[in-house]
Amino acid sequence: MQEKLSNRINNLATSQTLAMAAKARELRAEGKDVIGLSLGEPDFNTPDFIKDAAIQAINDDYNSYTPVDGYVELKDAIITKFKRDNNLTYTYPQIVVSTGAKQSLANVALAMLNPGDEVILPCPYWVSYAEIVKLAEGIPVEVSTTLESNFKMTPEQLEAAITPKTKMLWYSSPCNPSGMVYTKEELRALADVLAKHPDIIIVSDEIYEHINYIGGHASMAEFEDMYDRTVTVNGVAKAFAMTGWRIGYIGAPAWIARACNKLQGQVTSGANCIAQRAVITALEAPVSKISYMVDTFKTRRKLIIDLLNEIEGFETTEPEGAFYVFPNISSYFGKTIKGHTINNATDFSMFLLEEALVATVTGDAFGNPECIRISYAASEAQIEEALKRIKSALSE
Ligand SMILES: Cc1ncc(COP(=O)(O)O)c(C=O)c1O
Repeated sequence: MQEKLSNRINNLATSQTLAMAAKARELRAEGKDVIGLSLGEPDFNTPDFIKDAAIQAINDDYNSYTPVDGYVELKDAIITKFKRDNNLTYTYPQIVVSTGAKQSLANVALAMLNPGDEVILPCPYWVSYAEIVKLAEGIPVEVSTTLESNFKMTPEQLEAAITPKTKMLWYSSPCNPSGMVYTKEELRALADVLAKHPDIIIVSDEIYEHINYIGGHASMAEFEDMYDRTVTVNGVAKAFAMTGWRIGYIGAPAWIARACNKLQGQVTSGANCIAQRAVITALEAPVSKISYMVDTFKTRRKLIIDLLNEIEGFETTEPEGAFYVFPNISSYFGKTIKGHTINNATDFSMFLLEEALVATVTGDAFGNPECIRISYAASEAQIEEALKRIKSALSE
């Protein structure tokens, strides 16, 4: 019956981060003590002040369908947040609240892409970008970056990737999976290229904005000449430890926001009522209320880098944001360890799972076949034990 499925779904890859998590669960069910460093999920609970707001919303009988593009009070909080944190001015018709930033991105792709339209994706990119683009019948155009350039796309690379079919550029900064953060100057240099190609729309995914260890988050839409052609994507999953609450949002040119609203109105309707009320409280709070999580990630970042540096064959950058390291492990390619022949990052990641019982994600999932992604959204004890096991598995 498989052949009865649409080409669309048959051509869609399964999320490799979720697949790795499922494989780790399987091994755990067999009684194996797997340490999961594969998921992009804070290991904190949602802060109490946000949970209280949700409980209050239930007791206040927020239970009806919500406006498709979000409660007006949430839009107020988002507009204030954009001004406060990003110096961006948006109005109500420019904001669309969705069921996670993932839906925000899917909305934009489906609203903007015609078959054959090209979308430039600097690699490594977040796992779902390429698949969402393909689902919308667009063509992902990968631009490879290297560890030496700190995984940053240069203006020359961007210029070279642009063709008459280029419709959009998508990137995340801070970046999942590399942790790189574009400075304002670097974004301006990319904007200078884009200024010569006025029809290209930019999707700036800023969901890791607050998880930034070097300070100075910059948004593409801050540049006056980019504002009218940039979709700023954000959400609460990462910084507020609210992955399961499923709220993301965009600030965009009104014509794009209108199209996303139209699409969402036919597919999911407005996002969950209780989660939206809780997010109003989350966004209205000063950022200092969540900085304890960022401080903890920063300590773990140092720990994991120090431990990785002790293992032969791992070459890594110092991530500037998010909670991942993305080491290059290609020096192991062509080797056989404990009976496992390692020819690529997927073999390596599988070797770590089976022999060290540590779940990571292959760089292939992110468009970079020489690296693996290790999440440090885990306790220090777990990180220490995981790296000890990796070191030991590789030393034999
Ligand atoms: C770069 C990036 N964008 C978007 C998302 C999706 O966020 P949400 O959970 O709000 O759908 C993620 C989640 O992993 C991400 O890493």
